[in-house]
Amino acid sequence: MKSDSVLLDVQNVSLHFGGTAVLNDISFDVREGEIRAIIGPNGAGKTSMLNCISGFYRPQAGRILFNGHDVTRVPTHKIASLGIARTFQNIALYTGLSTLDNLMAARHIHMKQNMLASMIYWGPAQQEEVRHRQMVEEIIDFLEIAHIRRAVVGALPYGLRKRVELGRALVLEPRLLLLDEPMAGMNVEEKEDMARFILDIHEQRGNTIVLIEHDMGLVMDISDRVVVLDFGLKIADGLPDEMKHDQNVIQAYLGEA
Ligand SMILES: Nc1ncnc2c1ncn2[C@@H]1O[C@H](COP(=O)(O)OP(=O)(O)OP(=O)(O)O)[C@@H](O)[C@H]1O
Ligand SMILES: [Mg+2]
Repeated sequence: MKSDSVLLDVQNVSLHFGGTAVLNDISFDVREGEIRAIIGPNGAGKTSMLNCISGFYRPQAGRILFNGHDVTRVPTHKIASLGIARTFQNIALYTGLSTLDNLMAARHIHMKQNMLASMIYWGPAQQEEVRHRQMVEEIIDFLEIAHIRRAVVGALPYGLRKRVELGRALVLEPRLLLLDEPMAGMNVEEKEDMARFILDIHEQRGNTIVLIEHDMGLVMDISDRVVVLDFGLKIADGLPDEMKHDQNVIQAYLGEA
């Protein structure tokens, strides 16, 4: 499934807030069909990088190409409709709604360009709704959350809430999936479940994945290539095995208290 064609190309991206440089001249690419990990100590700039890719932050310099198109200044909702979906480090769900409604809402919010058509033509609108519903049901089955489809998500255990959040990204049928620490705060069993879903998404649904993750063992196991950030700088980029022996990487991690 991996290919040599570049799906996402981050070119010389710099981001600062006031006087604080958060990303310094960062470049890396993501090939179609790969699992690309971004690692680095706390505060390295990993989430900020994801925020730039998904349009939440605008870098002051550099550009980001998705499938050959410059998306650096494209607003978040348009990015989603171009085929990039993400999950958040801190769960972002409608806690008062059911699993099903959370997934339906995600689908509606990001596909609202169809809403005008819906208002004008009742027939197509109904078909569109059926199609939304089918996709949502497909993802519910895929993530094995049918038993909690009617459950209010705020009351669910953490691991399941993270899975619903993953579902909210998947219903957008993205080509590129950005996952910000999908396993953080999970127990061993929940982690194993999530790792399996990530691999299944990759293999069965064909998504290209960018994964921020602190668990090195897991990164080594499932990623094709790794970018390492430290204090807003890219300090290494390569195969997981190469990272284990990279002096800069070892230093960055040993240097962390
Ligand atoms: N909106 C913002 N305004 C000001 N500073 C910010 C903003 N977003 C991020 N930063 C700063 O940028 C730096 C990098 O933060 P970021 O969240 O990207 O790191 P991270 O690598 O994801 O860390 P962690 O592993 O803890 O999640 C931090 O010093 C943070 O305080
Ligand atoms: Mg982060």
